[in-house]
Amino acid sequence: MAAEFAHLLCPLCGTPLTKDGASLYCLGERRHCYDIAAAGYVNLLPPGKKNNAKAGDDKEMLRCRSRFLSGGWYDPISKTAARLGREAAGDKEIFFTDAGCGEGYHTCQIAHRLQKIGHPCSGIGVDAAKSGAAAGAKLAKNMGLTNVQFIAGNIFAIPLQDQSTDIIYSIFAPIPREEAMRILKRDGALIVASAGREHLWEMRCLLYGQPRVGEGVKMPAGFTVAHKETLSYQIHLPDQNTLSCLFTMTPFYYRCPIEGRQRLLASDCLTVKVEVDFTVLTL
Ligand SMILES: C[S@@+](CC[C@H](N)C(=O)[O-])C[C@H]1O[C@@H](n2cnc3c(N)ncnc32)[C@H](O)[C@@H]1O
Repeated sequence: MAAEFAHLLCPLCGTPLTKDGASLYCLGERRHCYDIAAAGYVNLLPPGKKNNAKAGDDKEMLRCRSRFLSGGWYDPISKTAARLGREAAGDKEIFFTDAGCGEGYHTCQIAHRLQKIGHPCSGIGVDAAKSGAAAGAKLAKNMGLTNVQFIAGNIFAIPLQDQSTDIIYSIFAPIPREEAMRILKRDGALIVASAGREHLWEMRCLLYGQPRVGEGVKMPAGFTVAHKETLSYQIHLPDQNTLSCLFTMTPFYYRCPIEGRQRLLASDCLTVKVEVDFTVLTL
């Protein structure tokens, strides 16, 4: 298993970071230092960049996503992601990066599932939202996982060493094409989980009346599609609270018409289709 906070780079000077006590120090002349926060994550967002704050999801979205995911509604997604990672890696030990990990739910589930079947693995969750990285570290601690760490960082300038990662996961997150190419080992895989054409269809019907079928996410150029599959199942959301948590964690929360929002908030329960496209990409 990789050491704690392995393969990281200093976001200021790009030299490797090593752990010493409760801090990470870079090997550069200035010995930049990053403290491990009490919550257990490290903030490697490039200091002073105004866009840092804008890149991540807001606190309300993160809070709702945490509450919704902890209900287990999306566990088949983590399960599929873990299986595809194992299939792509074969017998090799896996070091994975979850790029845009939110509050680390899938990161921890993937690490837990691989560990449970005895596949040696370690991983790192990266998100621009500090509260996401903090929540991930807390969840890992609660689940007793020592093989997964969290950093606040920008996935478009990801502070990880070249060719350090066996599997990159991009789960409902922006895909950092160039950085993925840089950090992925030559025999590694980028696994993208994105909304399928009819993902959350019944919710979209409530919000938009007659929604359009989704177009799917465009895969990044320069990779080869090694495998594709679609995960599809139904969930019954039993109360308004669960329903509005799911709504708040989707992009529809910001852009649906006001009447649609009212219809959704007036519903007590809903049966919804979950449809997720998984694409395994290799170099
Ligand atoms: C829709 S959420 C998905 C979170 C998680 N993968 C999941 O499925 O629960 C997308 C995540 O990408 C993160 N994100 C967006 N842009 C980012 C960037 N430039 N660097 C790091 N994280 C970013 C957001 O903060 C958010 O947590």
